[in-house]
Amino acid sequence: MLRPNKDKKQKVKLTKESIRTAKGIFTYLKPYRGAFMIGWIFLILSTSAGLVFPFMMGQLLGGSSAAPTNMADSVKLINLDNINNVAILLFILFGAQSLFSYFRVVIFTNVTENALRDIRKAAFSKLIYMPMDFFNQNKVGELTSRMSSDITQVQETLKTTIAEFFRQIVIIVGGIAFIFVFSWKLALIMLATVPVMAIVAVFFGRFIRKLSKKAQDQAAESNSIIEESLMGISNVKSFTNEVFLLGKYDKNIEEIRNLNVKSGVWRGLFVSFIIFCLFGAIVFIIWQGLLMTQGPNPELSSKDFFSFIMYTIMMGASIGSLPDLYASIQKTIGATENLMNIINEPSEQQLQQGKETPVINGNVRFENVHFAYPQRKDISVLNNISFKANSNDTIALVGSSGSGKSTISSLLLNYYTINSGKIYYDDIEIQDIDLHYLRSKMAIVPQEVILFAGTIRENISFGNPDANEDQIIEAARQANALEFINSFPDGLETQVGDRGIQLSGGQKQRIAIARAIIKNPTILILDEATSALDSESERLVQDALDKLMVGRTSFVIAHRLSTIKNASNILVIQNGNIVESGTHDELIKSNGIYNNLVELQGVELS
Ligand SMILES: Nc1ncnc2c1ncn2[C@@H]1O[C@H](COP(=O)(O)OP(=O)(O)OP(=O)(O)O)[C@@H](O)[C@H]1O
Ligand SMILES: [Mg+2]
Repeated sequence: MLRPNKDKKQKVKLTKESIRTAKGIFTYLKPYRGAFMIGWIFLILSTSAGLVFPFMMGQLLGGSSAAPTNMADSVKLINLDNINNVAILLFILFGAQSLFSYFRVVIFTNVTENALRDIRKAAFSKLIYMPMDFFNQNKVGELTSRMSSDITQVQETLKTTIAEFFRQIVIIVGGIAFIFVFSWKLALIMLATVPVMAIVAVFFGRFIRKLSKKAQDQAAESNSIIEESLMGISNVKSFTNEVFLLGKYDKNIEEIRNLNVKSGVWRGLFVSFIIFCLFGAIVFIIWQGLLMTQGPNPELSSKDFFSFIMYTIMMGASIGSLPDLYASIQKTIGATENLMNIINEPSEQQLQQGKETPVINGNVRFENVHFAYPQRKDISVLNNISFKANSNDTIALVGSSGSGKSTISSLLLNYYTINSGKIYYDDIEIQDIDLHYLRSKMAIVPQEVILFAGTIRENISFGNPDANEDQIIEAARQANALEFINSFPDGLETQVGDRGIQLSGGQKQRIAIARAIIKNPTILILDEATSALDSESERLVQDALDKLMVGRTSFVIAHRLSTIKNASNILVIQNGNIVESGTHDELIKSNGIYNNLVELQGVELS
């Protein structure tokens, strides 16, 4: 299950469970495992070459023309007495290492990018098929920014951190083996100092990581302030809420600054601690080592002493970098877990597998439907709703704001599962019908039209991607939209802006109508489809809609009652209950709520 965001912020420790979830990522590496293995071979080769480097370097630094006197030299195949030989070998070593590293980087990048492409695809195809409720519970801005930062984190790790981590471990383990060969005494001295540092370093690193995690979460929050403000920019401006939002943002970024500065101070302390102790340890070991090289019969040759020092420096650096690498890997496990949680979340697509695709003629029946939104389970939005629509009927839903009309249209589209009761399409229960199939038979002109950034043409053909030019123009004409479309210099190619911001409310509504027309649905839902139009345009569009409704089952939600006079059945809804139903004439005669509304609006009775 996807945890709510708050839990995620509190989570610092990795559990077995989270590691198990994160392991799911390997499924995405599997197709590229061949290349991945080759990458590892190159990594092992370049790491081994790196391990020989301090040895050679030491031999070069301490090299002289003296005859070999030490144990390490006596087992060597090549004569390392001569510093020229050593230098040439070093060049060969670098050549080999750079070649290995090149292939390692290229192959790891390839594997990573391939796997990430698949992960991105899997995550988006999951998101787009998530049940409606998921989007009620998760802020879209936060979700997308978290996802992209999680992906970046995984990318970094697969590409470099794993290799780096492996390299450091090999250097530490291999280095210990080497230094014991040179001098076990000096090696023990060194091991008595460095691990102490390492333990303190790990402790320090953990603490710093906690601080930066807090800052990261705060940064995500500040991003969501920006996103929400800019997405609702017209609201911000009209309510002159700029100062309020700036204040909110200021507070947030001040917090980020403080957290980061605090973690900076600790990071500084950490770095200076490492430097001081590292150099302190090196000086101490050099001092002890030099003592061993003294005298006529030294315990340690100066060449081996130099190699020893080189290993100590390399190992010191490796140990110093471990906490950061470890933290990064830990972060990646968290990020991977987030991603895998999204990918593993059941989508509508999975939930509806193996459902029926019956013939749908537009007969719809609600039987004692009760419904509450999943995140407000205690507030019942619809109570005991029962009605019947025969094929080609027009059902009007009337009622005050918040009474549950749009909710009924959401249930028709099976956005949510009802708590009790039954919904039938042509005598098949809604949950037995293939979702994709069911929705393909329906079209909605929603209360809040949102267009996609793109052209008017793209937005109309969204209703039917296979529509040809003539069909698009015809749909636009029927929706009474052709006139304004043609008045734009670019016509159908006019860009509508983000979510249709460059069009007026009425224009957007007519494009949404054209989109519904072109879909040619069996069941049509019009949720205040003409609310943004002036009465002249409304009349024209209403004409179009009247024609559109012929031969389909239509659900019309309207505040303006004049538009629903001809409905086959009018349902008057109050607080989630159907309180009256019947035709216009019947309801007028019964002299109830509907009649009152009609009188209030002064609808002419024909
Ligand atoms: N996504 C949601 N999550 C939780 N509650 C919701 C959600 N959408 C609507 N509601 C609640 O359900 C009730 C019915 O809302 P609905 O949108 O169906 O009303 P409506 O009749 O369409 O009103 P209007 O005429 O203003 O469009 C309201 O109390 C509303 O607050
Ligand atoms: Mg509504």
